[in-house]
Amino acid sequence: MISEPLMVLSNERLAQDLCRMTLEAPQLAAQARPGQFVTVRVSDSYDPLLRRPLGIHRVLESGGSVQLLYKVVGRGTELLAALIPGQRLHLLGPLGNGFSLPVELDSALLVAGGIGVAPLLFLAQRILARPQPPQVELFFGGRSAQDLAALEQFEDLGVKITLSTDDGSRGQRGLITELLQPRLAGIDPARAKVFACGPTPMLKRVAQLTDMAQIACEVSLERQMACGVGSCMGCVTGVHGAPLAREGHAECSTAGPAHYERVCLEGPVFDADKVEWSDG
Ligand SMILES: Cc1cc2nc3c(=O)[nH]c(=O)nc-3n(C[C@H](O)[C@H](O)[C@H](O)COP(=O)(O)OP(=O)(O)OC[C@H]3O[C@@H](n4cnc5c(N)ncnc54)[C@H](O)[C@@H]3O)c2cc1C
Ligand code: FES
Repeated sequence: MISEPLMVLSNERLAQDLCRMTLEAPQLAAQARPGQFVTVRVSDSYDPLLRRPLGIHRVLESGGSVQLLYKVVGRGTELLAALIPGQRLHLLGPLGNGFSLPVELDSALLVAGGIGVAPLLFLAQRILARPQPPQVELFFGGRSAQDLAALEQFEDLGVKITLSTDDGSRGQRGLITELLQPRLAGIDPARAKVFACGPTPMLKRVAQLTDMAQIACEVSLERQMACGVGSCMGCVTGVHGAPLAREGHAECSTAGPAHYERVCLEGPVFDADKVEWSDG
């Protein structure tokens, strides 16, 4: 894990509230797995106090740099958007567990809602770098065309893309899960997996659909995070089944029909059928 100031190589504004930052980060690039995230200290002062969590969007082919894709929603991301090339950003990561890839896989369906697309580009990169890669498809929904970021990068990788927007400005008008549902019916459930990141109602629906279709599904959850490293318990989510004891991760001690796990440490990626969706 690295905890150091990294050089900003570029910080582009892609749309009114959407930015992409490239950082010189060879160690992070070498260590990161898709679905992991970093926390960034957006200011040298204690205001704002807390680091902001951001997914690892892309590792550039040279291996020396890493990209973050972020939506400007508040003070922290506004400060981030103001950084210029040559400045340094203090970053901690890679954090969290990341997505897991089955060995036998013919179809990988990535489902993104809005800025939830951020970690899925890195996932597509890694899946397609396998010796015999499965078909990778992206189902991507946003409020309007402006929300549909990084499409070119997915196209360059050869990912098949299906789009929807709430206002019909790009792709089909409506929810992306409406387009996902018929697609799930046409694939071999034993050799397919769904990976989703986006707003909780979308993830919950993806979980229902993959459960009905008996297709494995992992979702990346978002919670407000204070420490980002498993100490404060501020990011817990209810999880069904036995507590996980992943290598290097502390086991959760809470018992009950649903126990709790920390999204920053045991997550942010969870099996969709293990998540207690009423917690969202
Ligand atoms: C594991 C993880 C990965 C993330 N990856 C990305 C990413 O790749 N790109 C990206 O743009 N955003 C990502 N987020 C969300 C991002 O952390 C928040 O948007 C950011 O912290 C907001 O900071 P702020 O200071 O600009 O806003 P604040 O002033 O802190 O808050 C402004 C608004 O943003 C909301 N908000 C704050 N934190 C979160 C959060 N954690 N999740 C959802 N909404 C939040 C607040 O409720 C409020 O409405 C991720 C969050 C998590 C937990
Ligand atoms: S943010 Fe502190 S335990 Fe997860």
